[in-house]
Amino acid sequence: MPLPSSIVILTGAGISVESGIPSFRDKSGLWSMVNWQDYATPDAFARDPGRVRDFYNKRRRAMAGVQPNAAHHALARLEAGFRGDLLLVTQNIDDLHEAAGSRRLVHMHGELGSALCEACGMRSRWPGDMTVDSRCPQCESAGRLRPDVVWFGEMPYQMDRIYRALGEADLFVAIGTSGHVYPAADFVEEARLNGAHTLELNLEPSETAASFAEAIHGRATEIVPAFVDRLLETS
Ligand code: APR
Repeated sequence: MPLPSSIVILTGAGISVESGIPSFRDKSGLWSMVNWQDYATPDAFARDPGRVRDFYNKRRRAMAGVQPNAAHHALARLEAGFRGDLLLVTQNIDDLHEAAGSRRLVHMHGELGSALCEACGMRSRWPGDMTVDSRCPQCESAGRLRPDVVWFGEMPYQMDRIYRALGEADLFVAIGTSGHVYPAADFVEEARLNGAHTLELNLEPSETAASFAEAIHGRATEIVPAFVDRLLETS
């Protein structure tokens, strides 16, 4: 692999599995336990906001005591030690990349610890439970707060910034994602068309495995630190 000058990394739920956070489409994944149509769409929220808020309250509470793992820490080490441009785009709504020290980070599907006010559009940090009585810190409306996460059918965040980075990248790495959900699943093609080397680090071949020039399969806590060590040794 040639020495890159600009890297885009995309992570998915697989990077957080070894921290104890279930993925979505593995056999014991979240969407095998509940129907995403009842919890992760704007219609589901309009139909039953309390049930959707409770679903995210449970996921927020489940983050208590959860620590980043060696894969998160390796990516933070890469950001600190890599002299070129690096952008970490995560589909995950947990805060494990930040907890490990990553800062050049985009949460394209939003964040579990953030609330969005449907009345005034304000985003605010929301570490606790959200209920119908929760008030927006800015406009003080009650009953208008929703989880600040991107649901199916909604536009992911910061897409312009992501596509600009994909246009400049000479290395694109996807880690722990099944390649099931667009537009994230299309990033590898975008990077490849712009001449980037493309690498998949995943437990098993993803649905977009054929688009990658290189793949390393294994557990993230093993293959990601090894990848970062190799990259930092050559840079
Ligand atoms: N190490 C590396 N990869 C792993 C590990 C592990 N320990 N455990 C699981 N994986 C891989 C699985 O093989 C799978 O390919 O991680 C991937 C997880 O895929 P998904 O569960 O589909 O998660 P993700 O790709 O992040 O889903 C994308 O779908 O429901 C939406 O918004 C949600 O952001 C999510 C999006």
